[in-house]
Amino acid sequence: MKQRLESMLQEARSAFENAGSESELQETRVRYLGKKGELTGIMKGMGALTPEEKPVVGATANLVKEELESLFQARNEDVRRAEIADRLARERIDVTLPGRSSFRGSKHPVTLVTEEIAEIFTSLGFGIEEGPEVEKDFYNFEALNIPRDHPARDMQDTFYISEDVVLRTHTSPVQIRTMMRHAPPVRVIAPGTVYRRDSDITHSPMFHQIEGFLVDRHVTFGDLKGILTAFINQYFGREVGVRFRPSFFPFTEPSAEVDIQCVICRGAGCRVCKNSGWLEILGSGMIDPEVFRSVNYDPQIYSGFAFGMGLERIAMLKYGVNDLRLFFENDLRFLQQF
Ligand code: DAH
Repeated sequence: MKQRLESMLQEARSAFENAGSESELQETRVRYLGKKGELTGIMKGMGALTPEEKPVVGATANLVKEELESLFQARNEDVRRAEIADRLARERIDVTLPGRSSFRGSKHPVTLVTEEIAEIFTSLGFGIEEGPEVEKDFYNFEALNIPRDHPARDMQDTFYISEDVVLRTHTSPVQIRTMMRHAPPVRVIAPGTVYRRDSDITHSPMFHQIEGFLVDRHVTFGDLKGILTAFINQYFGREVGVRFRPSFFPFTEPSAEVDIQCVICRGAGCRVCKNSGWLEILGSGMIDPEVFRSVNYDPQIYSGFAFGMGLERIAMLKYGVNDLRLFFENDLRFLQQF
């Protein structure tokens, strides 16, 4: 029996030695030390021994058991250390690597310009209004003194939804909606999206405008010039040359288009200003009494001015962009520059 114990010990030694992982070690431990293991198996034969043999074999069995335990412990330590070292090597993190920066979006140039213009006008006491993009013919045309079959309708090539409903061709209908809801005085700007059947380097079927108007007693063309000149100087950041050129709009009388000195050549003449030295930036005028009548304002008591400008155009001039379509293509290389 003693011999059997010793040969089992031999065998167990190499078994523990060869166990390469914690689970293999556990299996080996169960095989030799478990309840149904080899040691228990051998000890079952104790009953057949003589009283003299029993203590000798018992002592040997205890020694063998202890040795097996300590073999297991020692090997277990080794295996665990090896596994930790292995994991550390595998999961190594290089803390000196630069971090991944998260992508940060930026505002679209049209949004930037809208915000900038809104800020200038709110500092001059203007409020902000909005109106629907799908608009009734009445607000988009009729109430603005553009009757059906009037040639002025050809100025704006319109998308019709139905006979009486259009995609608004300008932000001017917000004038009508605002004046119908508020008694004078009113001082408001209205930014928004507008639509026309037009598409080339300088025209997009969808673009943006800002409308503005002011109505009160005793408003004069001098007020219009003062406010618009102040706005232009603030927006372009220096004293740019400004000129008011007589023009025509059905909803204003008199009307003026406003030009600024070319921001590219400063008036000397270049391709952008077609050698005139001037760039048109907005339409304006004194609100026509016909418009006041359609919103129930008394033109004998009140007068006012209005203006409208294309935001993409204003953004192009400020940032030196030469193709309107860039604003709508959403090319990140373009957008990231703002
Ligand atoms: N609504 C005009 C357009 O889209 C722009 C405009 C001109 C607006 C003169 C005005 C104005 O308020 O007074 O072409």
